[in-house]
Amino acid sequence: MKKVTYNGLTFKPYITRDRIQARIKELGAQITEEFNGRRPLFLVVLNGAFPFASDLFREIDTDAEISFVRLKSYEGTSTTGVVKQVLGLTENIEGRPVVIVEDIVDTGTTITNLIADLRQKNPADIKVATLLFKPNSLQHGSRPDYVGFEIPTKFIIGFGLDLDGLARNLPDIWVLDEEASSEA
Ligand code: IMP
Ligand code: MG
Repeated sequence: MKKVTYNGLTFKPYITRDRIQARIKELGAQITEEFNGRRPLFLVVLNGAFPFASDLFREIDTDAEISFVRLKSYEGTSTTGVVKQVLGLTENIEGRPVVIVEDIVDTGTTITNLIADLRQKNPADIKVATLLFKPNSLQHGSRPDYVGFEIPTKFIIGFGLDLDGLARNLPDIWVLDEEASSEA
């Protein structure tokens, strides 16, 4: 089986690009239906969500806008628990439906903090679309509204997800191979 290595850690194939694309089409159709004619603002959480957002946004078949915020809560493979809003929101979101676009919801810390910040700006509605969700890791907030794939509590990379900045460009998603990595 093909494997990839970053920073001495070995990863094996997990979710193929074809499955990812098929699932994004389904999510796009669902979000289109639910926001039809309401001109939602897609708020993309950088850096990780950019490939997902790029594909999802092109599946939205109703008038919509897109903007970006940048947050960071991870160092290496474990959360630091500290959420920093690096690049803020410039749009006026008052009275508008907002769809937050995330790569992955793990402990829920990042998304819960972002939602609390956004609520203060009085949007009409806030929904969360995430490509990946680790339900067993969730400590804050509730299940995201639109989930691509529910996965166990494992560390993954690719399709925007990184290990210390690397592997975001992989077109498929790969999971940490704990056996191979502990031998290294
Ligand atoms: P949370 O605040 O614990 O929900 O973590 C959310 C952020 O942690 C995501 O936006 C990712 O940047 C990062 N993250 C969580 N799990 C993984 C993973 O398995 N691989 C890479 N990054 C992850
Ligand atoms: Mg992220």
